[in-house]
Amino acid sequence: MRRHLLSAADLDRPEAELVLQTADELRSLADRPIKKLPALRGRTVVNLFFEDSTRTRISFEAAAKRLSADVINFAAKGSSLSKGESLKDTALTLEAMGADAVVIRHWASGAPHLLANSGWVRSSVVNAGDGTHEHPTQALLDAFTLWRHLGSLDGRRIAIVGDVLHSRVARSNALLLRTLGAEVTLVAPPTLLPVGVDGWGVETSYDVDAVLPKADAVMMLRVQRERMSLEGGGFFPSAREYSRRYGLDSRRMATLQDHTVVMHPGPMIRGMEITADVADSHRSVIVEQVTNGVAVRMAVLYLLLSGNDSGGQA
Ligand code: NCD
Repeated sequence: MRRHLLSAADLDRPEAELVLQTADELRSLADRPIKKLPALRGRTVVNLFFEDSTRTRISFEAAAKRLSADVINFAAKGSSLSKGESLKDTALTLEAMGADAVVIRHWASGAPHLLANSGWVRSSVVNAGDGTHEHPTQALLDAFTLWRHLGSLDGRRIAIVGDVLHSRVARSNALLLRTLGAEVTLVAPPTLLPVGVDGWGVETSYDVDAVLPKADAVMMLRVQRERMSLEGGGFFPSAREYSRRYGLDSRRMATLQDHTVVMHPGPMIRGMEITADVADSHRSVIVEQVTNGVAVRMAVLYLLLSGNDSGGQA
């Protein structure tokens, strides 16, 4: 595998399948009483989070620890420095600490690319979510979850529903699921579809009721109010109207095929994009996504670092 994972588009089909196969081998570890392998002993993984996160940060931490790496958590939120300066200063600190991998989440789209391409650090850089841009390990864990339930993704229909405009999860999933042969339909109100979505190679629809009965999986997206308020709001008339038109409730769930699974990257807003009974239903694989996230991030860290014994040289 290459040195960094910045975008889901970095992975061709054999590379993406290698991550899924490696995750499959590593997943069995979660069922053992001692959940540790020595694979990354002596390596240092830094979690550099400029934006809030619960499951992604914990998941990367668990993944690195299960591979016996040393983990440093660096919560950089609240820095008043401008993006370039703050990243550069932080990068120099990480370099001085001898980081082998830097897992970065940043509110600015492109920050992981800047870190990887600046020459400030010699470590591998993993994008754990940059602005509204990409979140490749989320897409990998979603693909892994789908693969466990549906087998090959060739020709499978995946509906991604909700706030696509602000969702790095949607973009990374659209890229990766296509690489793996799936047919993706993005479903959103016109105000929540990004400009240029025509170039993503996916279908789009405004009509969730038309798309759901054909889907093999439905991925619900959180309504990202914190980003909407920065942009002045006005993306839909009211929360109630949004839920009525685009939310997944038990009535809509009843129109799905028997094998269709319901996904959500979390955090969920129960009652907004998904009702509590759907989130907790037998179709929901939302908790399993979290479990799979650890195995997939172990696979990513292992593949990035194990082929890289010189401590970060390209
Ligand atoms: C997502 C994110 O941060 O992009 N969550 C996650 O990583 N599990 C989606 C979201 O915040 O809605």
